[in-house]
Amino acid sequence: MQDQNVKTTAYNDSVVRQFSIMAVIWGVVGMLVGVIIAAQLVWPELNLGLPWTSFGRLRPLHTNAVIFAFGGCTLFATSYYVVQRTCQVELFCKKLAAFTFWGWQLVIVAAAISLPLGYTQGKEYAELEWPIDLLIAAVWIAYAVVFFGTISKRKVNHIYVANWFFGGFILAVALLHIVNSAATPVSFWRSYSAYAGVQDAMVQWWYGHNAVGFFLTAGFLGIMYYFVPKQAGRPVYSYSLSIVHFWALIFTYMWAGPHHLHYTALPDWTQSLGMAFSLILLAPSWGGMINGIMTLSGAWHKLRTDPILRFLIVSLSFYGMSTFEGPLMAIKTVNSLSHYTDWTVGHVHSGALGWVGLVSMGALYYMVPRLFGQKQMHSIAAIEWHFWLATIGIVLYISALWISGVMEGLMWRAINTDGTLTYTFVESVKAKHPYYLTRLLGGALYLSGMIIMLWNVLKTATSGKPALAYIPPVAAHS
Ligand code: HEM
Ligand code: HEM
Repeated sequence: MQDQNVKTTAYNDSVVRQFSIMAVIWGVVGMLVGVIIAAQLVWPELNLGLPWTSFGRLRPLHTNAVIFAFGGCTLFATSYYVVQRTCQVELFCKKLAAFTFWGWQLVIVAAAISLPLGYTQGKEYAELEWPIDLLIAAVWIAYAVVFFGTISKRKVNHIYVANWFFGGFILAVALLHIVNSAATPVSFWRSYSAYAGVQDAMVQWWYGHNAVGFFLTAGFLGIMYYFVPKQAGRPVYSYSLSIVHFWALIFTYMWAGPHHLHYTALPDWTQSLGMAFSLILLAPSWGGMINGIMTLSGAWHKLRTDPILRFLIVSLSFYGMSTFEGPLMAIKTVNSLSHYTDWTVGHVHSGALGWVGLVSMGALYYMVPRLFGQKQMHSIAAIEWHFWLATIGIVLYISALWISGVMEGLMWRAINTDGTLTYTFVESVKAKHPYYLTRLLGGALYLSGMIIMLWNVLKTATSGKPALAYIPPVAAHS
């Protein structure tokens, strides 16, 4: 009788625990591959002369591992954690939730095998071949059913803003993935896109940019809206701003994709439209960042002693920085300098390492002790170490690539008075060598912080045991 009662009043956290642990493991794996390809750019011999270990095959392995395995597992874990607590009910359909975990791990393993073997659709961030795409679609629909099913049986009237962001992210990613992956299979491991020419490029970058906007941004803003107030012990700075933030962000992101295709065969008006919407995007992005940072009003002193809060707040500073830089790079004249250069890769990683990475780490450090019945993480000193290694790593990484990106852009366009090029392409590659070495060092520091995190998480998990968190008997606001 007692057991039955416990069973019906506890949250379903086993799937949250599984996703949380795997997020950290895949984080280490994905970043390790990032460090390897960064080293290959410094010492090309590290390609080993084998097709499977060449830069061209390991690069998509890196992007898929960090975005979909590390980022994806973090988003599943946090959204399942948050939706249960803010709705004060158990996850809808335990079996389907378990399917999302095992299905997603299967997707990751299939990617880890097929990409080094060279199977690819050749679309960035959508490389995986059609059988894996079908599995992704099935897992994602199951995810939507679990998430929205939980919302629909909630005991709290109100739908907390974090769930709006998670919900928007889930719906948008389903739409993007299904439309962009439409293809005609010609064999089990080969297919052709349903679109051709410039339409194919447009659909791909509508997808690619919104993968950034919804996968790497909206979902992580859901994390921000729950974990920053929780860790700071303060309510969200402005609830009204959060609603304006949500609608403005999701409306604007959908239109900005053409900024990836400036000066291409895409009609000029489409490029200008993409540029205009990218500039507008600064407003909701900064509105959200300010809402997150100002949540700390009256609790700033906590930053001195609380490394988890520091992860969360510094992530927002990088979010602000990369969403200032993005609109700038979307201006056509600026893009004519930045496109194809390391500046883009620097921009990507200020968002990826600074925003996505740090906010994920902060949320995981918040959840892990609670999920394993511990008061706090095994070692607070290790969290401090992680924070500084990551922060120094990011600064080295992005400042090196800013310099190398602007430098190579300027070298490519430099012309002599007689109209000939001042530099050969190889000279620009040679000039980048010291910056690639600095990026490698920054990446290695970032990875070492992540390895410390893995140790700390495993120690916390093994010294505690899976904890049952009970649903409050009377619904209250979270
Ligand atoms: C230890 C940390 C990391 C290192 C050393 C690293 C290194 C690299 C390198 C060397 C590239 C290829 C750049 C090129 O083609 O010139 C790359 C690309 C990329 N990485 Fe990372 N990375 C790290 C972490 C991450 C994380 C955490 C994310 C996302 C959450 C991420 C997302 C990406 C993306 C999206 C690209 C493609 C960029 C583009 O096409 O412009 N990386 N990374
Ligand atoms: C207001 C927000 C943002 C705008 C307007 C924006 C704009 C841009 C622009 C103009 C490019 C260069 C396109 C090119 O020359 O090919 C770019 C590349 C990219 N940005 Fe952003 N960005 C924003 C925020 C972010 C954030 C927060 C992240 C990461 C979390 C991010 C990730 C990326 C990635 C992965 C690429 C590289 C795509 C590729 O070529 O593979 N962006 N962005």
